[in-house]
Amino acid sequence: AFHKEARHLPLSSDGLFPHWDKAKLQRGLQVYKEVCSACHSLDHVALRDVAELGYTEGQVKTFAKGFQVPSINPDTGEPATRDGLPSDHFPAPYANEVAARAANNNALPPDLSLITKAREDGKDYVYSLLTGFQNPPANLPKELQPATGLHYNPYFANLNLAMAPPLTDGQVTFADGSPNDVKAMASDVTAFLVWTAEPKLVQRMRVGWAAFLFLSIFSILAYLSYRNIWADKE
Ligand code: HEM
Repeated sequence: AFHKEARHLPLSSDGLFPHWDKAKLQRGLQVYKEVCSACHSLDHVALRDVAELGYTEGQVKTFAKGFQVPSINPDTGEPATRDGLPSDHFPAPYANEVAARAANNNALPPDLSLITKAREDGKDYVYSLLTGFQNPPANLPKELQPATGLHYNPYFANLNLAMAPPLTDGQVTFADGSPNDVKAMASDVTAFLVWTAEPKLVQRMRVGWAAFLFLSIFSILAYLSYRNIWADKE
């Protein structure tokens, strides 16, 4: 009864004629990097993939260099780190699950690469979750109230989750001066996570339309030749 349905987040990648809003995706990437990446990995995405958001090759190289990725010291064989390369994937915030749980009250922050596909209501859910933290209602039964270290959020299936509200108004500053209240940042990062989950969405729809158009033309030609062939028959 306290659980709420996700609110709809309209995005340019919706519907039959989707397109990417690259400026928005760039802002979403920035939110992921500055906020979410402290706890959540993005295993399936290579650093060079962000070129599709409208960055040049040089910008991607610089971007990749800004990450430290795990490696091995060739002389000692000891674990070490090195600067990121465009071919690396986004490095995970924790070395392993034990470390991840230890830092998060024993909860595991899920990988976000496919989260907008993995959860029911996808992007709407992610957006609602990010904007849905609130004080528990006064009439909430005792057994549903957040235990220590948990946070009330009516969009989360069991109402209390181990993630504290990750966004606060004004937290990220966008180069393009876009709004940076919680809703705007949540919308941007959700749009970005729609892209990470299906980077070929727009291309898939375009190819679909091209195939449809192509087959339509041949259907018309087939019909016209049928008419033509049978034109003089009674
Ligand atoms: C869970 C998104 C930042 C820690 C989640 C979930 C999503 C999410 C979608 C999954 C909820 C589910 O299982 O249905 C985000 C986004 C962030 C962000 C988009 C950035 C804007 C953070 C940060 C931390 C964190 C900074 C750590 C300080 C966690 C933890 C969980 C979680 C521990 C597991 C909660 C549980 O299962 O009880 N997050 N998160 N998140 N997040 Fe985040």
